[in-house]
Amino acid sequence: MKIKPVRGTHDLFGEEINKFNKVVAEVKNISQQFGFYELITPIFESSELFKKPLGEQSDVVLKEMYTFNDRNEDEITLRPEYTTPMIRAAISNGLLNNLPAKFFGTGQMFRRERPQKGRYRQFNQINFENFGSDDYFADIEIICLANTLLKKLIPNSNFTLHINTLGARDNLSAYKKILSKFFNDNQKSLSKESLDKINTNPLRILDSKNPDDSAMIKKSPKLIDLISKTDLNNYEEIKKCLTDLGINIFEDPNLVRGLDYYCHTVFEFKTNELGSQDTLIGGGRYNGLIKTLGGKDIPGVGWAGGIERIMLLMNDVPQKQADIHLAILDPSFKLHAIKIYDFLIKNSFSVYWNYKYNLKKALSFANEKKINYLIIVGENEKANNNFSIKNLSNGKQVIVNIDNILDYLK
Ligand code: HAM
Repeated sequence: MKIKPVRGTHDLFGEEINKFNKVVAEVKNISQQFGFYELITPIFESSELFKKPLGEQSDVVLKEMYTFNDRNEDEITLRPEYTTPMIRAAISNGLLNNLPAKFFGTGQMFRRERPQKGRYRQFNQINFENFGSDDYFADIEIICLANTLLKKLIPNSNFTLHINTLGARDNLSAYKKILSKFFNDNQKSLSKESLDKINTNPLRILDSKNPDDSAMIKKSPKLIDLISKTDLNNYEEIKKCLTDLGINIFEDPNLVRGLDYYCHTVFEFKTNELGSQDTLIGGGRYNGLIKTLGGKDIPGVGWAGGIERIMLLMNDVPQKQADIHLAILDPSFKLHAIKIYDFLIKNSFSVYWNYKYNLKKALSFANEKKINYLIIVGENEKANNNFSIKNLSNGKQVIVNIDNILDYLK
């Protein structure tokens, strides 16, 4: 019986796992620098956590969630994103008493999309969320964090910050109505897929890539005309500050994002090196979402990045090799060898035992992997209760025992 992996899933190993671990390590470093705490949530949640907050008409909820009934008929969904589970966890565990509360997490998400390069049904996200701050500096800070992380992980790639403002929630609701009316009045000039969104999700028509829609998108009423002066000033400050910080900005008035919970600043870091799956990181402000999920009426801002997409742009990460290779010349010397093996491991060295019991093979393996030291365990070493150690970079070999090997390795 040969079982294939499920479509849209992939295994991580070798080079890929080195890149994956580097991403996670950098995320942990940077979270400390910026003062974010780790929050790990379950992979599945009650379906209702996602349905309304992400938008009943969003692609994720309409077509992509892995939902099933548990044995007691509870409806469960494998998490398609991390923002709502993080908010749920912050509320469930009383983590919103001291604000701002800043959290990050990495982990698997699940969306039943059409698989292609950079798009999977199970994928990993990095997620940073700042709960409780209305200050537009929180937007700048979290975008800066994203930019710093990308610069660390993919220093040789080009990426650009696409940014827009959606204004306050009530401006946005008013705008959706105006937009629905405009597109209803101009149905003839829209693609079939956009016609389906006129009354349910008119904002999504704005980011349609279908050329049949482009003329109407150009003529459509602009959200900016509804946004208050203060909000526009804040948005101008955000753009100015990010530009002054050296971040490449592209202002995109049609950027609306695919999930319903956004308002004010929305942004995406995009690359031109990955074809159609070109968004590395996406996020924005979601004032109102925490209250919708049963928490306090506090604002929030955050982003998520696709680890697999970032990995596609990363250089190879060298595998860390053992410090010492054991060359045991005959299986009958194993009990003597294990003494030094155990001693070195307890003293934090990495030691490799290859079960070959052959000096030539051990030497060629150690040279190939660029391991620094070879410990040779032969007849004499066993008889005299000591070990030979060879420095492979200069070829020098000396005899040591457990009491003085650490001095030698220093
Ligand atoms: P999102 O735009 O749906 O936002 O996803 C964020 C990132 O996850 C994308 O930019 C992409 O890199 C990666 N991604 C999404 N779907 C896939 C897939 N099928 N395969 C591989 N990578 C994928 C969110 O999830 C929001 N929760 C972001 C957020 C956080 N907003 C505020 N806080």
